[in-house]
Amino acid sequence: MHGTIIALFFVAFMLFSVSDSAAQPIDVTLTVSDKPTGKISPILHGLFFEDINFAGDGGLYPQRIKNGSFEFQPDPTRGWRKLERGETSGQFSIRKDNPLNENNPTHARLVVDEVGGGFGIVNEGFRGIGITKGEKFDFSIYVRTPRQPAPNLTIELHDNDGKTVASAELNGFATEWKKYECVIESPIADSRARLALVINEPGSLDIDMALLHPQDTFNGRKNGLRKDLVQLLKEMKPGFLRFPGGCIVEGRTLENRYQWKHTIGDLSQRKLIVNRWNTEFAHKDAPDYFQSFGLGFLEYFLLCEDIGAKPVPILNCGMACQYNTSELVPLDELQPYIQDALDLIEFANGPVTSTWGKVRAEMGHPQPFNLEMIGIGNEQWGERYFERYERFFKVLREKHPEIKIISSSGPQADGKDFDYGWKRIREIGADLVDEHYYRPPQWFLGNVHRYDNYDRNGPKVFAGEYASHVGNRRNDWEAALSEAAFMTGLERNGDVVHMAAYAPLFAHIDAWQWAPNLIWFDNLRSYGTPSYYVQKIFSTNRGETILPVTANGPADQLFSCASLGEDGKTLILKLVSVQPRDRKVTVHLPDSFNPRPAGSQIVLSSKDLNAVNSIDEPKRLVPVEKPLNGVKNKFQLLLPASSVSVLRINLG
Ligand code: AHR
Repeated sequence: MHGTIIALFFVAFMLFSVSDSAAQPIDVTLTVSDKPTGKISPILHGLFFEDINFAGDGGLYPQRIKNGSFEFQPDPTRGWRKLERGETSGQFSIRKDNPLNENNPTHARLVVDEVGGGFGIVNEGFRGIGITKGEKFDFSIYVRTPRQPAPNLTIELHDNDGKTVASAELNGFATEWKKYECVIESPIADSRARLALVINEPGSLDIDMALLHPQDTFNGRKNGLRKDLVQLLKEMKPGFLRFPGGCIVEGRTLENRYQWKHTIGDLSQRKLIVNRWNTEFAHKDAPDYFQSFGLGFLEYFLLCEDIGAKPVPILNCGMACQYNTSELVPLDELQPYIQDALDLIEFANGPVTSTWGKVRAEMGHPQPFNLEMIGIGNEQWGERYFERYERFFKVLREKHPEIKIISSSGPQADGKDFDYGWKRIREIGADLVDEHYYRPPQWFLGNVHRYDNYDRNGPKVFAGEYASHVGNRRNDWEAALSEAAFMTGLERNGDVVHMAAYAPLFAHIDAWQWAPNLIWFDNLRSYGTPSYYVQKIFSTNRGETILPVTANGPADQLFSCASLGEDGKTLILKLVSVQPRDRKVTVHLPDSFNPRPAGSQIVLSSKDLNAVNSIDEPKRLVPVEKPLNGVKNKFQLLLPASSVSVLRINLG
């Protein structure tokens, strides 16, 4: 009985003290040292791009017509439907006779017998076609006529209700394939417009490669990339861009692996293949998901230039995805794959007199792209990978010692295959090891010190794909907060973690397969998730020299890192408080520092761990910048509950 009373009293006391401390800020002292422990990689925070979730075709590559080449299999008419106005009769058929070229074997034929009100076909775009008022588009198409006289072809822009809002006419078609072009200007805004190709007189036309490119692209590049999406990337000041993936590097089968040489040159010569995310998830079936390669390797390199990121191409190593077919290239047939890697280095860096440097120059870029790194294999594991990787490594190291080589450590962040991978990589050699982790928030919080004791003498780490996955896989604040906590560990170990990227990057809200993602978009709008803003404030406030921080007091769920900026005069302190209550922090700076009283702070916080941004409410959770006053060698700060703070202190 006596024991029970004591126990009840103890429980009551605990309840009281917990609720009491919830009301009172908790005092922690963080002491920053002036003894550097290393340098943070200047390209620590970067980007991972893969054409998943319609991130490429239908997203970053803003060409609006889906299946304009009539190459989608098994249904080459996918994305198109017949348009029959009034008493019209005609046929829409798919043909393979005298194709445009061998990479583009299929085309469509329109035959009009009875004109009526017009006969043609309508393209649905990528879940609609996004148009804005006054926006101009370059339309192009290959046409020939099987018999003269050839009818004219009317290009119509339809709104979501099917009403024609703009049109243009092409004519004078010959009996041989030829490209025809016109400009269409949209008088309205609509995220679900359509494009129709209409014939208004008897006759017949063969058509192929119908393309509708917006003129207003990032940096005004012709056939360039979607402006708002690239802008979001550029604002992150990314150190690097990993491309083209991801699993699409591997392909479900070797035949459908990513082959960079098929993605360059004239758009009509780029050989379309199925996107492996087309059928990957039964509950997210996307039978209309293909890779046109309008966004190909030249465009990736140009994108890197445009956003100031170092290019990091990842190449197939002679293996198809190990989660799918696991097809393998026999070791004695690996040479063409290795040659692809050598040729890519020449394409990127070779003089214009070299075979592939000349190709680059002919595509309008005589200057080299300054490729410094190349990844061999995406998410491969096991000895079958390492025996292939080793062959690449030997040749690349010998012929291109200036290029850093990235090896895979598989899809897991720990365990048997991961340990075996690191062991084999140390034996064979690599400059960087690609680690992937898609784990729950608790894993990220528990792994903030993952790299504190990593070997500083071996290969460096490329955290090539990571994201915190909450149970419902939403991009909520809980996920972003745990990523921020983990990123303090990346920066504290920025001497051994050379590069890191959240994954995946983009998702179309009407056409995604995978969540969470960093940036979401529809046909006209886009927004950054809380994770995007975490990445952004870390990347745009990366320091150069690592300074240790020690905590005294109740510092649980408080994560921090400190660095000196490149100017040597700015102290950057990042503080992540995962506690659901405000807390008071005393910051203690070294006596050797002479802080100016006025600094700045960027704060990203929400008491609601389920908070998200959305297409209609894109700025619900965004960083707020404000002055930081009263800075001294010892000063106090109130950290809001569940917050990420970046302090910038001027050291005079
Ligand atoms: O980012 C999505 C997928 O996750 C990538 O394609 C793959 O590398 C990883 O399994």
